[in-house]
Amino acid sequence: MEMILVTGATGQLGQRIVRRLFAGLSDAGAGRLAASVRDVSRACELAARGIEVRQADFDDRESLVTAFVGVERLVLISTDGPKDVRIAQHRNAIEAAQAAGVGHIYYTSFLDADAGSPSEFAQVHAATEALLADSGLDFTLLRNGLYADFLPMNFAAALETGVLRLPAGEGRVSYVSRNDLAEAIAAAVLAPRLEKKVYELTGQSTHDYWEIAAKVGRAAGTTLRYEPVSEDGYVASLESAGLRAKLARALGNMYSAVAENRFARTTNDFAALVGHPPRSIDCLVAEYFRAA
Ligand SMILES: NC(=O)c1ccc[n+]([C@@H]2O[C@H](COP(=O)([O-])OP(=O)(O)OC[C@H]3O[C@@H](n4cnc5c(N)ncnc54)[C@H](OP(=O)(O)O)[C@@H]3O)[C@@H](O)[C@H]2O)c1
Repeated sequence: MEMILVTGATGQLGQRIVRRLFAGLSDAGAGRLAASVRDVSRACELAARGIEVRQADFDDRESLVTAFVGVERLVLISTDGPKDVRIAQHRNAIEAAQAAGVGHIYYTSFLDADAGSPSEFAQVHAATEALLADSGLDFTLLRNGLYADFLPMNFAAALETGVLRLPAGEGRVSYVSRNDLAEAIAAAVLAPRLEKKVYELTGQSTHDYWEIAAKVGRAAGTTLRYEPVSEDGYVASLESAGLRAKLARALGNMYSAVAENRFARTTNDFAALVGHPPRSIDCLVAEYFRAA
């Protein structure tokens, strides 16, 4: 009986993937599912459903080795934090998977996984993909598009002022929700055989922020417009709103990557894995912004 383990199982994406895997495994197979978490006291719901909860911290390589023992399929969810810390954490996880004899890693990468991108998030994922390629382990890359779930946060100020200010230029984005990503990732993990090594999980269509602002405005019952700003101006506005400087810069350079159209593509990979398309941007915007 092959064991599947999901890291970051108390995170937003991880808990959705675990739910999908749990639903996809038959009753007899539910015992095949394990979750690794930093804080087991936050995983009582998982344990109560019969999911084996193992403690592991990405900063502690030995805890990862112990957690990965007996695991055939490892769903490695990228961590958060500063670039160098994340790369070191991902290296720890890959080395721990080697030491524990994991059969296959499913890594949640990023649509922009290019070392030459201005986005430091992209650089983290490019570095991790390279570590996987050098590891000798079998792996599948599940490159996630930008989360639509962040649209409410992006538009919080715009809904007050009427203007969405981002350093995204004329860039187009194929937004996709965490719920849909989790469905596709779980389908990949449960597939007896995969056709490809790299899956790019995108929304159905691409849009620039003039279009997205118009859609959000219509759904929220107001008028919104988009105004491109400089990366530095955007970072300064995030910092003055209280965001840590490093995170503000990482968000700023991510939108510079958007401006370079690094998220402006759609693929059929989602439908190939789950048998239907992801939710459209109109459905997602209606869900997040429908006027009360
Ligand atoms: N595609 C996109 O638009 C997008 C946007 C944001 C993030 N991401 C990436 O996708 C990942 C998953 O997204 P998400 O929404 O699920 O983020 P999230 O809710 O912040 O989840 C991150 C997970 O990583 C775990 N983690 C962080 N540091 C750890 C450590 N040292 N040891 C053990 N676990 C650690 C967290 O554990 P705890 O539960 O204990 O906190 C959490 O479960 C993020 O971490 C990030 O790499 C992608």
